[in-house]
Amino acid sequence: MSFKLKEFYFLEKFQVQYYEAQLSSAKDEYYLKAFAKMVKIESGHADYFAQKMAEIKVENPKITTSLFKMAGRILGESVEITGADNTCKLGVALEKKAIEMYQEFIMKAWADEDLRDNLMEFMLDEEFHALWMENYINNM
Ligand SMILES: [Fe+2]
Ligand SMILES: [Fe+2]
Repeated sequence: MSFKLKEFYFLEKFQVQYYEAQLSSAKDEYYLKAFAKMVKIESGHADYFAQKMAEIKVENPKITTSLFKMAGRILGESVEITGADNTCKLGVALEKKAIEMYQEFIMKAWADEDLRDNLMEFMLDEEFHALWMENYINNM
């Protein structure tokens, strides 16, 4: 359990960092709003896992790896990010990976109704994020 919580804390912290990085590079106001909203939601996810770790007295892992290394670690390949199009493409890949991870965790956590409920909520958020970015790419 403590391994799972760490893994998801790491995943969510990375998403926060990834979307936050877009806030300084993008100019489109609506796009910025979307990313600011995603930062807020991903922060909420990360906070939940941090709190769960605190409950079982597990220390929050420190995140020191660079953004690109983290993306590579999550997606299993080296990645480069330039422009809104690529940002969204990588964002979609990250969200899809997150959705896969949530599906697996939900099955494992099924007996814990409270945890299951939260994981489903978060997975829905990730699905919305992926759909928004996919839609953004298609309308560029
Ligand atoms: Fe998330
Ligand atoms: Fe997300």
